[in-house]
Amino acid sequence: MIFRKICLKDFRNIEELEIFPGEKVNIICGENAQGKTNLMEALWLFTGAKSFRQTKDSEFIRFGAEKANLTAEFYSENREQTAEISFSPQKSLKKNGIDIKSSAEYAGTIGGVVFSPSHMNLFRDGPKERRRLIDTSLCQLYPKYLSVLADYKKVLDQRNTVLKDARYHSGLIDMIDIYDEQLARLGGTIIRTRVNYCESLNKKASEIYKGMSGAREEFFAEYITTVLSENEHADSSMSTADFAQKFYDSLRASRNYDFEHGSTSVGPHRDDLEVTLDKMPVRSFGSQGQQRSCILSLKLGEAKMLGEAMGEPPLILLDDVMSELDSLRREYILNSIGESQIFLTCCDKELFSGLEEGKVFIMEKGRLLGGGAVCEAD
Ligand SMILES: Nc1ncnc2c1ncn2[C@@H]1O[C@H](COP(=O)(O)OP(=O)(O)OP(=O)(O)O)[C@@H](O)[C@H]1O
Ligand SMILES: [Mg+2]
Repeated sequence: MIFRKICLKDFRNIEELEIFPGEKVNIICGENAQGKTNLMEALWLFTGAKSFRQTKDSEFIRFGAEKANLTAEFYSENREQTAEISFSPQKSLKKNGIDIKSSAEYAGTIGGVVFSPSHMNLFRDGPKERRRLIDTSLCQLYPKYLSVLADYKKVLDQRNTVLKDARYHSGLIDMIDIYDEQLARLGGTIIRTRVNYCESLNKKASEIYKGMSGAREEFFAEYITTVLSENEHADSSMSTADFAQKFYDSLRASRNYDFEHGSTSVGPHRDDLEVTLDKMPVRSFGSQGQQRSCILSLKLGEAKMLGEAMGEPPLILLDDVMSELDSLRREYILNSIGESQIFLTCCDKELFSGLEEGKVFIMEKGRLLGGGAVCEAD
């Protein structure tokens, strides 16, 4: 996927903008609050996903304007295509000139991966964010996965309601058997899908981490599931049925505890992705730069997996990643990510001084200056 041209009108602080990006690295440099993240957000919206910032559609429209308009010309699936998004404030979508009724219909038009400062909390936050990282990617790879997740959540909510209410209505206790079976079946699918994904992701992300850190530390990412005991490890030799059985057994074993606490203590909704560097959990022992490098490796690994599934390199958006990284890691990002078209923001020209080949744009008060000065390899 390659963006050829993007035009924005009345989007956030951007009144009018036209950009002809390069096919590989594009740097958007500018001082704080100039509109760099706004541009990244606009590019991200073309993937069909929601903004990576918690935001309402009406907030995309420039203050005082009535409508925001985003158009893109891009190359994907061996042909030139167009996409258009507008907010008035209702969202409307067009692909190759044809109206698209729902986001689901548009999904998959442009594959992309984003790293934004909000991802920096991946290790500081609880496991929910790490599960979200896995699930977001799996939903792009397998659209059906989303409905399994939704069904699981529905049954989980029902089971939790019974756990809470059973002390007042003992007749409800029998319902638990039915929910346990349904949960185990859906949960088995979720765990197996996540375990497979995390194994592949680990292979890709650990290679990337090696390149980024100059092989200084050994990266390892592993899916940890609450349905196995501490000395058991989940791996892809286990089938969906194996995980469903383990999950069912652990639901039975924790039933009394769950009644006491009024919630379900085991299952994929309590699982985690653990990342270690030289066998030490990065969550507890990683420095800021190490944590950032691990998250980046996971994100770039995700891009590789998406690229393989889609048959073409996805868009990569890296918002504000360069700070806190040493020059070795910065140069890796600038020059070694590979085939994807990349957009990268930073505040300081020093941070991209190692760029070998790419285009540089300066963002000032919502306008792009410099027209994309080209930096070429010798
Ligand atoms: N709907 C809107 N209309 C007009 N301006 C807006 C709108 N939404 C956001 N802004 C403004 O856009 C400005 C630029 O935001 P943006 O997050 O893109 O900055 P940035 O260049 O990424 O800065 P930083 O380096 O601090 O991350 C902010 O000052 C914000 O107030
Ligand atoms: Mg920003």
